[in-house]
Amino acid sequence: MRILSGIQPSGQLHIGNYFGMMQTMISQLESSELYVFIVDLHALTSVHDRDRLALGTLEAAADFMALGLDPDKCVFWVQSDVPEVCELTWILSTIAPMGLIERCHSYKDKIAKGIAPTHGLFSYPILMAADILLFQAERVPVGKDQKQHLEVARDLAQKFNNQFGETFVVPEPAINEATQLVPGIDGQKMSKSYGNTIPIFLEGKQLKKRVMAIETDSTPVEEPKNPDICNLYNIFKLFATPERLAEVRNLYVNGGAAYGYIKLELLDLISDFYLDARTRKAEFMADPEMLRAILRKGADKAREKAGTTLDLVRDRVGLRY
Ligand code: TRP
Repeated sequence: MRILSGIQPSGQLHIGNYFGMMQTMISQLESSELYVFIVDLHALTSVHDRDRLALGTLEAAADFMALGLDPDKCVFWVQSDVPEVCELTWILSTIAPMGLIERCHSYKDKIAKGIAPTHGLFSYPILMAADILLFQAERVPVGKDQKQHLEVARDLAQKFNNQFGETFVVPEPAINEATQLVPGIDGQKMSKSYGNTIPIFLEGKQLKKRVMAIETDSTPVEEPKNPDICNLYNIFKLFATPERLAEVRNLYVNGGAAYGYIKLELLDLISDFYLDARTRKAEFMADPEMLRAILRKGADKAREKAGTTLDLVRDRVGLRY
């Protein structure tokens, strides 16, 4: 199975990203042909700050590897290092119906949040389709918010195949319901744009501040509470052992669950969970040249695959004479 997914470098990665796409990908390293990349060209639709984008890209790469993505067991690269994707974006643009792209709500959502309405932001879904189709991905694990973009990729693959002959694999979405289950500290979905995240690599006082700020209700300690609607419990669940989780669940149901103590326990759990990753990240960031070399090697592998698809596409549409 060829599995592909990309991640934006525009901000600190948080535990919602981890339990959504990242862990899913890392867990399939041994069993699948994995394609993982940092989507800096997509980030350019909302980040126009040279240093933020460049550093964000390096950091996202360090984060992913620190968390266990072994670049020798997959194809791992930075999107802009494989310029073939831009050519395919253009070719797909010429068959992408305006109506299809106009219906994408992420464009409207992003403008509503204050991102400048540019043509790049509008055609974001076409670049994403090119990402997917260029590597003939069979399966694409993404969060629910990307579902519509995946449908665009499928539509464009089918349309191209119908018009020019079988060329692209039509990708299957693998919508990760679990992503939706990671609540932010305010109980909404954890998302950078809601400012409610717990960043993976936060530590010490800063991490404590975030964890202690998890919103809970004011039910007294001794009273029974419903764990399943408790934001704190739903985050705790991600890190606790099954045995400890059962004990804490019992305290919720039968009374005796003290939010303050659970938060402190969660703080330790998160700290420990990412302890090794934190050390590895620091090592990667201390040697950016090594990081760049790994990414260059990944881009070479990716370009091989991309070149094969693009040659076929050029031939199909008549860009070979
Ligand atoms: N748009 C995706 C997001 O914001 C990132 C992305 C870009 C992507 N290209 C992709 C995800 C291709 C999967 C496949 O999360």
